[in-house]
Amino acid sequence: MNITLRNLNVWYSACHILKDVGVEFKSRQISAIIGPSGCGKTTLLKSINRTAELQPGFRRKGDILLAGIDLYRALDAVTARRSIAMVFQNPIALPMSIKENVLFGPRYYGIARTEAEAVAERCLREVALWDEVKDKLSSPASNLSGGQLQRLSIARVLALDPKAILFDEPCSSLDIRSIRQIEELLLKLADRVTVVIVTHNLQQARRIARDTALLLEGELVEFGETEKLLSQPQKERSKDFLFGQLG
Ligand SMILES: Nc1ncnc2c1ncn2[C@@H]1O[C@H](COP(=O)(O)OP(=O)(O)OP(=O)(O)O)[C@@H](O)[C@H]1O
Ligand SMILES: [Mg+2]
Repeated sequence: MNITLRNLNVWYSACHILKDVGVEFKSRQISAIIGPSGCGKTTLLKSINRTAELQPGFRRKGDILLAGIDLYRALDAVTARRSIAMVFQNPIALPMSIKENVLFGPRYYGIARTEAEAVAERCLREVALWDEVKDKLSSPASNLSGGQLQRLSIARVLALDPKAILFDEPCSSLDIRSIRQIEELLLKLADRVTVVIVTHNLQQARRIARDTALLLEGELVEFGETEKLLSQPQKERSKDFLFGQLG
């Protein structure tokens, strides 16, 4: 399901954070968002999954559509957050067992006792964690490694059957092997859900994202096919960011 932003403006109190952002993140592929620290990448993701509005001073103008449905007008916040889930930079282990971490969302929304086991197994298999944890499903999730925890966080989100998943720098604290696992997982997930990833790693965007959006100071300055955008940016500001940072 495509995610469409039309003239999206976001303020935190008097600060104008996102300025007239218009973009379409297509379904069945990965789209990347790149840009320097503080340009508004996290704010953009949080506006799409409707958690930005939990911050004091948040104000928005413009539309965000999921498959043509207005996320702010046609859906309530809870439904919007379930439909478009978000995975954060630092994976969180909820203070409970591995299995209960996966089932946290389904239990909150109500899941039949008989289904719980199957949901936990399906989601853990999907993130390629099942074989590593199947013999210790009842032990605390906090014992897992960073890479395992990031996969567990993704399993927790998958348990809610979202239509799209937004990832905010999911690999920033991981080693190369874990990064590769997460990238493979995202590519697989993109077969059935819309995937948007914020990354500081341009090579990562090259490896997995069909389209890339470049955000500078809250403005979407370029958007298009990743390879083309990274090798032949059209605007001077983009060149400064893309080529300046290599020097
Ligand atoms: N809750 C908030 N209240 C006020 N200002 C905020 C809030 N959250 C973020 N900001 C400001 O909005 C701007 C964009 O922040 P954001 O976190 O979206 O940037 P980012 O591109 O994700 O940066 P980074 O790459 O460092 O994660 C920054 O100037 C930040 O200080
Ligand atoms: Mg951020």
